[in-house]
Amino acid sequence: MIRVEGVSHRFGAMQVLHDIWFEVPAGTVFGFIGPNGAGKTTTLRMMATLLEPDEGRILVDGHDVVEHPAEVRRVLGFMPDGFGVYERVTVSEYLEFFSAAYAIPRERRARNLEAVMELTDLGPLRDRLVAAMSKGMKQRLAIARTLLHDPKVLILDEPANGLDPRARIEMRELIEQLQQLGKTVVLSSHILTELSDMVSAVCILEKGRVLAAGPVERIGRQLRPERAVKLRLLEYPEGCDAPFRELPDVTHVERGPEGHLRITYHGGDETVAVIVARAVGASLRVVRVEPERDDLEHIFLEVTRGELQ
Ligand SMILES: Nc1ncnc2c1ncn2[C@@H]1O[C@H](COP(=O)(O)OP(=O)(O)OP(=O)(O)O)[C@@H](O)[C@H]1O
Ligand SMILES: [Mg+2]
Repeated sequence: MIRVEGVSHRFGAMQVLHDIWFEVPAGTVFGFIGPNGAGKTTTLRMMATLLEPDEGRILVDGHDVVEHPAEVRRVLGFMPDGFGVYERVTVSEYLEFFSAAYAIPRERRARNLEAVMELTDLGPLRDRLVAAMSKGMKQRLAIARTLLHDPKVLILDEPANGLDPRARIEMRELIEQLQQLGKTVVLSSHILTELSDMVSAVCILEKGRVLAAGPVERIGRQLRPERAVKLRLLEYPEGCDAPFRELPDVTHVERGPEGHLRITYHGGDETVAVIVARAVGASLRVVRVEPERDDLEHIFLEVTRGELQ
């Protein structure tokens, strides 16, 4: 849905993006991660046609952002970092204003507006002054604003910034709903854990360079060719680790701190299936099989070697 091809950018003498490449597949929730000053906002503004790359190009739904900005704007909603200035209006006035600004035909406006308010749970707050809203509510309003023209792609710059855990869960639920509606969502953050339970693919940016990009699982596998699985058995007879040591893809078997068997292996889920089959073949009574998660935090720390946290 979005292709970033060899984009570079400088502000004055300062090079802030160095030949960055990545792709956001349609329908994914994509995390754009990097520390302060990495160049996230600069890149997102380019995707949203607000800034032109010095070199390279960006395609959104097949449209070049420099050559066909109007087409890009039609399919894309952008929520900048930080909230706008309109505070002395109500929620519905705010959204009506932006509906008009998006040039949505008058007869469709009311219907779109209702649909967006329902999706973002803003209906009960329609007469509330923006100034009197909490940060979490404002963030939902800002997302609602980007949805008014029913875009295919949503770009949200730091959407979870400053939200409390409850508001964050609500935002995650909203993003899940958007994904179910078939939308592609790009979220940025400098705090990895904010995104780790929402995204399926990421681009990790540091000092204007891409350190890693792609599906979380694949990045995890590249960085850690070995993975581990925890095998919990009903009981652990003498020598219960032996059958696994014979498997070609198993590199290590040990008893974990909770008594379970921790088996390190090469390969993907196929190897896990072989391990389980072996356990059953050896008459071991398997209760649970738990993969050690390829979580984003881990990947992030490995890619950046702890420099960022
Ligand atoms: N309009 C501008 N003029 C000059 N320099 C800029 C401008 N916008 C951004 N920069 C610089 O470009 C670099 C990248 O900034 P950018 O805002 O893209 O980073 P970011 O990853 O979004 O950071 P943050 O996490 O703080 O939002 C920074 O060094 C910043 O100071
Ligand atoms: Mg930023």
